[in-house]
Amino acid sequence: MSIQKKLESLREKNKLAELGGGKERIQKQHQAGKLTARERISFLLDEGSFEEMDKLVVHQSHDFGMEKKRIYGDGVVSGYGRIDGRPVFVFAQDFTVFGGSLSGANAAKIVKIMDLAMKIGVPVIGLNDSGGARIQEGVASLGGYADIFLRNVLASGVIPQISAIMGPCAGGAVYSPAITDFIIMTKEVSNMFITGPEVIKAVTHEEVTMEELGGAETHNVLSGVAHFAAENEQHALALIRELLSFIPNNNLESPPEKESSDPWDRVSDDINFLVPDDPYQPYDIRKVIREVVDDNYFFEVQAEYAKNIVIGFGRLAGKSVGIVANQPDHLAGALDINASVKGARFVRFCDAFNIPLITFEDVPGFLPGVDQEHGGIIRHGAKLLYAFAEATVPKITVITRKAYGGAYCVMASKHIRADINYAFPTAEIAVMGPEGAVKIVYRRELEETKESSSIVQDKIAEFREKFANPYVACEKGYLDEVIEPRFTRPKLVGALRLLENKRDKNPPRKHGNIPL
Ligand code: HXC
Repeated sequence: MSIQKKLESLREKNKLAELGGGKERIQKQHQAGKLTARERISFLLDEGSFEEMDKLVVHQSHDFGMEKKRIYGDGVVSGYGRIDGRPVFVFAQDFTVFGGSLSGANAAKIVKIMDLAMKIGVPVIGLNDSGGARIQEGVASLGGYADIFLRNVLASGVIPQISAIMGPCAGGAVYSPAITDFIIMTKEVSNMFITGPEVIKAVTHEEVTMEELGGAETHNVLSGVAHFAAENEQHALALIRELLSFIPNNNLESPPEKESSDPWDRVSDDINFLVPDDPYQPYDIRKVIREVVDDNYFFEVQAEYAKNIVIGFGRLAGKSVGIVANQPDHLAGALDINASVKGARFVRFCDAFNIPLITFEDVPGFLPGVDQEHGGIIRHGAKLLYAFAEATVPKITVITRKAYGGAYCVMASKHIRADINYAFPTAEIAVMGPEGAVKIVYRRELEETKESSSIVQDKIAEFREKFANPYVACEKGYLDEVIEPRFTRPKLVGALRLLENKRDKNPPRKHGNIPL
C-alpha cells in the first residue's frame, strides 16, 4: 500500500471513530437535549487541547452477533487535555455507541487513563451517560466496573476525581461516581439509582418516576449524593472548570492561586452589625462569608442539602480556602445527621488536598429528636468531630455567636488542633443556652418554691451575663483573640500567611477507623 493510501486509511478510521454510533444516533442524542461525548469534552477542555487515546479500540465480544457490530472507541471517548492550562484526564461515555454501556474493552480504556493520572498526579474527570453494564458481555463488563472501582478507591485523596452525570447512571455503575470527590448532575436529563422504578414497583409496590427517584433535584436536595445541580450540560462543564480552580492537581501540591485586586486588609464595617442583637434572631452566615472572601465570591458546594451547614470554597488574598459554617438561618444552625456528614466529607476533602479550613461557628448544639437519636446522630455527629480533629491543614475558627455543648468541641475548637481561634464579641460559649441551664441547675428550687417567672428571668440573665460571652474561653486560652468583626478579613489573611508552612501529622497507622 502506498504511503498516500496508508494516510487515507488512517484518516478514514479516525473519521469513523469520530462519528461514534452514526449520524442518526447523534441526532437522537441532540433531540434528547444532550451533547455528544466529543462535544462535551471540547466544551470542557481548553480549546484544541484534547489528545484522544485508544480511539480505535473495539470490543472483543463474539456473542449475540456482536462480532458484526464493532464501533471504533467502543462507547467511551478518553484522553487528556488542559483546563486553564493545567493538565487533566477525561473520559466521556458515548451514548450513541451501545448506549455508552460498559464493555471489557471500554473499561480498560478508562483504567488506562486512571493509572496514568495516578502516576503523573493529575485529576480525572468522568462524564457519565450510560445504560450500564454491556449486557452482551456479562461478567467481562462487571469485571471492568470493579477494575474502575478499585482505581477510584486507590486514587481517593491522591488525585481529585470529579463526575458529571449527564444521562442514565444505574445499578452498580453509580458506585464509581459515588467514590469520586464531587458529583454534578444535569437537571431533568440525568438520573442515578441502584434499582429503577420497575424493579421497585415489583418489589415494594411503590410507584415513582425516574426523575423523582434519582433525578438531579432528588440527589441534590434529599439524598446528598450529588454536590451540584446544573441547569444544562454547558453549566455542568463550567462548574467542573470552576471547581478545579480551587483544587491542586494532587495531594502533594498546593492549590492554584488567583490574583485579586481586593485588598488583603480590607475592613468591612458591615460585618460589625451582621450578627443580630437578639440571640434568637436568625441571619444568613453566607453574608459574613461573602464580606470576608476575595471579591465577595463564595463558591458554595451542596447548597441545597442540609442547609443548616454551609460548605464551599473561597479565596483569601488569592489563596484557596475551604469554608465550613453553621447556618443560623436554617434549623438555627443546629447540627443534625445530614449536616454532620456533609461537613465531615468536605473537611476530609480539604485536608486530603492541602486546602486550609476556615470555620465560622454559630451552633446551638446537636439537633434534639427521637428521629435523630434513632438515626444514629451519635455515630454521624462523631464523623464531623473525627474529620476536624484528624485534619492537619491550617485550621482557623471564628465563633460569631453560639458555641454550645459538644458542638463547641466539634467545630474546630482549639482542643482538637485548630491553629488560630477567634471570636466576635457576640460569641456565647457554654455547655448550653441560659434558659436550659437555669431549668436544670435550679430545677429543685423552681419546683419547691414555684418561683415566679421574674425570678427565673433574673437567673437566666445571670447565666447570660456570666457565660454567654467569649471572655471565659479567652481567660483559659481557648480563644486567641476576640476580634472586632470588621477586621475578620485581615485577621484571617494574616493567620493564613502565618500558617503557610504549617507541618503537623497524625500517628503512623494503617488507617484510622472513622465511625462510618
Ligand atoms: C448493551 C445497551 C445497554 C446495555 C442500552 N443499550 N443499554 N446495550 N447493554 N446495558 C443500547 C440499546 O440496545 C440501544 O441500542 C442503545 O443502547 C440506546 O438505548 P435505548 O434503549 O434506545 O435508549 P433510551 O430509550 O434512551 O433508554 C436508555 C436506557 C435503556 C434507559 C438506559 O437503554 C435501558 O434501560 N438500558 C438497560 C439498562 C440496564 O438495565 N443496564 C444494566 C444495569 S445493571 P440500539 O442499537 O438500538 O441503538 C448494571 C450493573 C452494573 O449496570 C454493575 C456494576 C458492578
